[in-house]
Amino acid sequence: MDLIRTAADLRAATEGWRTAGASVGLVPTMGALHAGHRSLIQRARGERDRVVVSIFVNPLQFGPEEDLETYPRSEAADLAASEREGVDLVWAPSVEEVYPPGVDLPAPDPGPVGKTFEGAARPGHFEGVLKVVRRLFDLTGPSVAYFGDKDVQQRFLVRRMVAAEPGLGVTIVACPTVREGSGLALSSRNARLTPEERQQASCLFLALTEAAEHARAGERDAQVLVALMAREIGATTLARLDYAAVVDEATFTVAATIDAPSRAIVAARFPHARLIDNLPLPAPIA
Ligand code: PAJ
Repeated sequence: MDLIRTAADLRAATEGWRTAGASVGLVPTMGALHAGHRSLIQRARGERDRVVVSIFVNPLQFGPEEDLETYPRSEAADLAASEREGVDLVWAPSVEEVYPPGVDLPAPDPGPVGKTFEGAARPGHFEGVLKVVRRLFDLTGPSVAYFGDKDVQQRFLVRRMVAAEPGLGVTIVACPTVREGSGLALSSRNARLTPEERQQASCLFLALTEAAEHARAGERDAQVLVALMAREIGATTLARLDYAAVVDEATFTVAATIDAPSRAIVAARFPHARLIDNLPLPAPIA
């Protein structure tokens, strides 16, 4: 496995592979790799000739009050995990390699969806995400990039970005959320939760499954599902609900009724971490 730190070396290595006819898969990450990240790598490994994993804690997607400084970092363990998964190349650059001073990089516009939900809670977040992902695509030239359903709004916006720029030639593959036995979605930030917070953190998944069960049973009113989710999360002592909503999968806008493919999304603040999760809402049993 190659460990590369500069943009020029990344571009040269992946260009060489493409010239030789190999398909390149890219798994963008911020490191602190867990089984969720590994599931993306495994999917890429199974489908592509070469697999690139990027490890970069992107300062542009953190707000001034957020946890950039304390975001978990574990490079040695991440490299060992990548090696075990058969990754061909890890790119772990400095901030200057990603954003060379004085260079005007493409800055894709997340549009109105970039200002809702996670974008409302974290102003500038999706501008930062799209800028770094666009830069990664430019340097790596992947035929496919792998994103988790866990961050569904991010995945939606990345898909829209590549649709708006067909010249990039990238297909986005969505991978299902990997969870603990309790239902808690794996996240690098879970490490911050106290044992009591961790126990209560499964309320996000419980809220989502309750909404999904009611949708399956025939409930079509999104407001009813939202109220159920808010009540489930509100019943805990440590979670503060940030939002609970039902969105249309095609537009990522709020759905009033469930008559097209829809997704329930939630975010809640615990004393030591803010958590997000989501589930697709099933069609009713006929
Ligand atoms: P990060 O949070 O490290 O996540 C990297 C990828 O792993 C994302 O596509 C995310 O959706 C996926 N992922 C995280 N937890 C998961 C889980 N439990 N199951 C399945 N997939 C999971 O998302 C980012 O980094 C950054 O915003 C990035 C895209 C790298 C841009 O900086």
